[in-house]
Amino acid sequence: MSLPKYPATFVWGVATAAFQIEGATREDGRGPSIWDTFCATPGKVENGDTGEIACDHYHLWENDLELIQGLGVSAYRFSLSWPRILPEGTGRVNSKGLDFYDRLVDGMLARGLEPYATLYHWDLPQALQDRGGWGERDTAYAFAHYAELVAKRLGDRVSAYATMNEPWCISLLSHFIGEHAPGAKDLPLALQAAHHVLLAHGLAQPALRAQASGADQGIVLNFTPSYPASDTPEDIAAATRFDGSFNRWFSDPLFKGSYPEDLWNYYGAAVPRVEPDDLKIISAPLDFLGVNYYTRAVVAYDPDGWLGQRSVPVEAEHTDMGWEVFPEGLSDLLRRLARDYDVPMYVTENGAAHPDVLSDGTVQDDARVRYLEGHLHAVQTALANGVDVRGYFAWSLMDNFEWAKGYSKRFGLVYVDYETQTRTLKESAHWYQSFVAEQRAAVASR
Ligand code: FCB
Repeated sequence: MSLPKYPATFVWGVATAAFQIEGATREDGRGPSIWDTFCATPGKVENGDTGEIACDHYHLWENDLELIQGLGVSAYRFSLSWPRILPEGTGRVNSKGLDFYDRLVDGMLARGLEPYATLYHWDLPQALQDRGGWGERDTAYAFAHYAELVAKRLGDRVSAYATMNEPWCISLLSHFIGEHAPGAKDLPLALQAAHHVLLAHGLAQPALRAQASGADQGIVLNFTPSYPASDTPEDIAAATRFDGSFNRWFSDPLFKGSYPEDLWNYYGAAVPRVEPDDLKIISAPLDFLGVNYYTRAVVAYDPDGWLGQRSVPVEAEHTDMGWEVFPEGLSDLLRRLARDYDVPMYVTENGAAHPDVLSDGTVQDDARVRYLEGHLHAVQTALANGVDVRGYFAWSLMDNFEWAKGYSKRFGLVYVDYETQTRTLKESAHWYQSFVAEQRAAVASR
């Protein structure tokens, strides 16, 4: 394959999230989060796995930053744990929590890594859940206050702030499908939660701009582009509904200031309560959109299915999550987002789970290398089409707590032995390292 040409300013990085790697859930004054509760509820997480130790990153963070530096990337996307900073969600500040992220950010800067911070990657303080969680409007105000506190402390040392990671997961997956914490199965609640998550994002903007005027402000959405299973009008309409509910429900309010009308009508009585200025607050201009992409959906009409549709299986390579490997989906998506919303983008997550085996000190994860290669070419295709993509973050730096799947799914470029906390670079880590080095060399020689 010929070498992709990336702009000289293109940001190369890896990503993680606090609850998935930190461990130390009871240390230094951290309060419980909804994921601690969920893990402690029998049957919710595979194998009864918990985040109590995870990758022990809370203690091994310097070692992990060196690992990232060693990969030769220039940026690290991480998240902050709200309950580490505000153990009850609001009110009393736990200075040890803020201190940890202060050291972490300085540690990145000392190693030439640009910090890309995500403020909320799913670990809501349990105390807020006890008061109704994302179903309550007050939670949006609590988030804005938490965001301000963080930005006041970290300010411009952070290159970019993303408020939320994947509002679809926070709302529908967690409050309607019930697969993630808090595990509710209630559509009106899920849509209300989605609205409050978007509102929280918008409410945080003025404080983030004020406290970190030199940092970029954005949000991270997950997209599953949908493709009709056939060209019948029924399948096309079903794919449009899937797209409306999964993708546009979140991106339209942010970038157009309105909910998509087709889905709004379809949802009927389940739609959220929206106060007069909410959409104006939600659609405040952003510096970037973070795009998380893993797979697509091929959708057929099904009168018995949710939204009158169902996803149909396709003959193709699938990852250990059962997700189809479909790199073209990423170039299509980036082109479409550029056309619809005209916003600079980063691919903030992209990667694959595989049942890796450590043998003789190596992990031969060829399938992951192929996955990364395919998707990086998709990014290049988008760039060649004039799409403003500014960076790429591989998910994930290392194997970690994969939510409801516990430790059974490995997404890392780096293999983690959970018994010894030994980290081993997989073949994909070596591959990414050389790939990034080649791109830098290509830029230097231009
Ligand atoms: C995304 C999450 C991330 C990780 C990957 C596999 O939905 O943002 O934390 O679990 O999926």
